[in-house]
Order: sequence, then C-alpha cells, then structure tokens
Amino acid sequence: MAEEKKKSSYISGRESLKITRFNRKVTKKLEEERANAIKDPKLYTTKMKDENNVVEFDNVCTYFFTDVGTVKSVDGVNFSIPKHATVGVVGESGCGKSVTSLSLMQLLARPSGQVVGGQIRLNQGDGTALDIAKTPNSVLEKIRGAKISMIFQEPMTALNPVFKIGQQVDEVLQIHNPEMSPEDVKAHTLHMLELVGIANKEGVYEMYPHELSGGMRQRICIAIALACSPSLIIADEPTTALDVTIQAQILELLQSLKDKMNASIMLITHDLGVVAGMADYVVVMYSGRIVEKGTADDIFHHPAHPYTIGLMKSKPVVGKKVDKLYNIPGSVPNPVDMPNYCYFRDRCEMQCDKCKGQYPPEFKISDTHVVSCYRYFEEGEQLGYPQSVDVSKLI
Ligand SMILES: Nc1ncnc2c1ncn2[C@@H]1O[C@H](COP(=O)(O)OP(=O)(O)OP(=O)(O)O)[C@@H](O)[C@H]1O
Ligand code: SF4
Ligand SMILES: [Mg+2]
Repeated sequence: MAEEKKKSSYISGRESLKITRFNRKVTKKLEEERANAIKDPKLYTTKMKDENNVVEFDNVCTYFFTDVGTVKSVDGVNFSIPKHATVGVVGESGCGKSVTSLSLMQLLARPSGQVVGGQIRLNQGDGTALDIAKTPNSVLEKIRGAKISMIFQEPMTALNPVFKIGQQVDEVLQIHNPEMSPEDVKAHTLHMLELVGIANKEGVYEMYPHELSGGMRQRICIAIALACSPSLIIADEPTTALDVTIQAQILELLQSLKDKMNASIMLITHDLGVVAGMADYVVVMYSGRIVEKGTADDIFHHPAHPYTIGLMKSKPVVGKKVDKLYNIPGSVPNPVDMPNYCYFRDRCEMQCDKCKGQYPPEFKISDTHVVSCYRYFEEGEQLGYPQSVDVSKLI
C-alpha cells in the first residue's frame, strides 16, 4: 500500500504542508531580490554575448512553485534570436514553449512562477542589454508592446470585447508615443489596418471584435502588435484557432510585415508545416529542455534527435500513401519528478548503452546544428550540460 502511494502522485498532509512552507519562503526571497534590483540599474543592465542577436536565452530556468511540488517548466534553455530572423520553437504540448516566451515578456503568474536561474538578455541597441528577469516592471512596461510584442493563439480572448477596434489599436500607440496628437494616432491606426489587409479600414475602426471574423480579428491583433514597430514579435500559436486557408494568409502577412519592419519573429507552434514555411532557425523542445537546434534545413532535412525524427515521421506528407501515421510511443515524464537520465529514454527506440547514464550534454554536429543525445557521442564536439537549479539552495 505504502509502495503504491509512493508510485502515484499521492501527497500526505505533512508533505503538503512542507511544500507550502518551502514555496512561501522561496518565492518571498526571490521577490525581495527582485525588489532590491529595482533600486540599482546596474543589477539589471548587462551586455549581449553577440550584438547581432535581439534576445539571448542563456541557461534559463523558469520554475513554478506549486502545491504538488516544483514544476521545472523551462530548465536550462539556451538559444538566441538573431536580428531580422525567424526562430521557430516546436515541441509537443506542455514542453515549455509558452513559458519560455512568457519568461521573456515577464508575464509569468508570479509569485508562483519565477525565473530562478540563467539570464534572458534583451539588446537595447546602445551596447547594453537588459537582464529581463531582474528588470523592474516600470522599465518593462515601456518595452512590452514597443520593443517586444506578442500575438496570442486566440484573437477573441486577446481583444477586449467592450472596446471598439480603433480604440484598442489607438491605445497602444498613445501609451508608447505620448507626444503624438489624437489625429496622428488615428491616422497611424488606419495605416496599420490597411497594412494588415483590412479593406474597409474606416468601418472596422468603429466596430467591436464580435463583428469581425476570426481571420480579421487575428489581423487586428497583428496590427496592435506591430503598431510601434517592435524589434521582436512573439507569435504563440498564432494560427491554431483559424482554418487552414486563413492560416496561410496570416502567416504570409506576418512574414511580409516582419521583412518590412526589419523585425525578428519567435514563432511558437506544434505545427511543423508552419515552421518549415517560415523559420530560418528551429529549436526543438522536450519536457522543458532543448533537445535539438539548428537551421530549418538542419532540422527538416537532417533531423538528429530521436524525438525530432519521430515528429517528422508523424507528419502527413502530401502524395505519400501510408496505412497508419507513426506515433511516438509513451508519454512525457511527470514534470514534478523528472528522471536523472535522458528525459526521452523511456520512449526512445534508438537508445544505446550510454543512455543509461546522466542526462546527455549538447553535441555540436555541424557549425549550426546542436543535439542533446548520446548517439552523437563519438562524432559530435561535446558542449555543456543544461544547467538545472537546485531549489533547496535558493533559501
Ligand atoms: N501557471 C502555472 N502553474 C503551474 N504550472 C504551469 C503554469 N503554467 C505552465 N505550467 C506548466 O509548465 C509546463 C509547460 O507549459 P507551457 O504552457 O509552456 O507548454 P506549451 O509547450 O506552451 O504547451 P502547448 O503547446 O499546449 O501550449 C507544463 O507542464 C505546465 O503544466
Ligand atoms: S540519449 Fe539515448 S535515450 Fe536519449 S534520445 Fe538519445 S538515444 Fe534516445
Ligand atoms: Mg503554449
């Protein structure tokens, strides 16, 4: 009986109390550290490793301190978003894609959600960078919507149902450009509506979100996101709520506007087709870690990690007839109790002797292609291990 309880996610009253006390202590300490950083800009100002990047994720760890234990949603994630590039972030549901982007926007559900390790650097364009997780809200408010903006999955919930479209686009322009006159704001809003392909711009300016179709609503969200010409657009599953023909139009629009504005895109999706058509670089995530990253050509034509290979096999191909599509066996590990070996091992059909050891380090298998898998132990140049944070040392 005791053994069964141990195997299940059963938590005794005493354990639950211990977790709650720990969570309270650790989140209080992290919030205090953050409040102290606000007083000294030196504590949140840093430098980019490479000035050609807009954003650098450097061993980022974002954990949620929940009632059932610590969920390591993002655990030692390392990748960069170069200027003017589109970076696709793919992986199955729950692998940490959205939490990675929310960590960058600092829109995590605090205090339970915290960036506990690593650095997220945002290029300021003046030789300095912001260490986002330590940056105070008063500074972040000027950045969100202006330098980095986000397009969410569901346009109906992203737009406010009680305000007219015009007011909602005007608002973002007014907040970030207080010197603009109301006439200039309206003119710019109408220009944005035209840019995102709204034919009846004057009419739509006066409409409410429920009067528009799903595709039009997503165009409005894009207009809001791009109104202040951001240097980075985060698109979190921007087309999942739309039908296939509208999906293609929205993606084309996003790509053309990105080129016009010289911006970068972080494109989050579990649709490999979407990434193939748009991304310059691809990052593949699994259970909060990056298992493979490279150029779109590396990932689509030379997938190296068994998980990426499985994802490719499970994608239908036009013109190729198969009796049954491949599916990756098994399911992801329990996020509050991750194994100390390769997270994919229990589902992996290609495992070898080395896989019995600790979590694999990253191996560089070409100048652009990096994979976290022991199959490349002989041929790849070994880079570092993902850096996890021991939460007991945080207090
Ligand atoms: N507020 C929260 N509290 C506790 N755990 C959370 C919270 N938000 C996310 N998580 C956990 O973090 C993990 C990663 O979630 P995330 O939303 O990033 O997944 P995702 O890759 O975006 O999935 P999807 O494709 O379904 O959107 C999941 O295990 C999720 O349960
Ligand atoms: S390290 Fe081993 S178990 Fe993990 S993905 Fe690679 S081959 Fe499979
Ligand atoms: Mg998500």
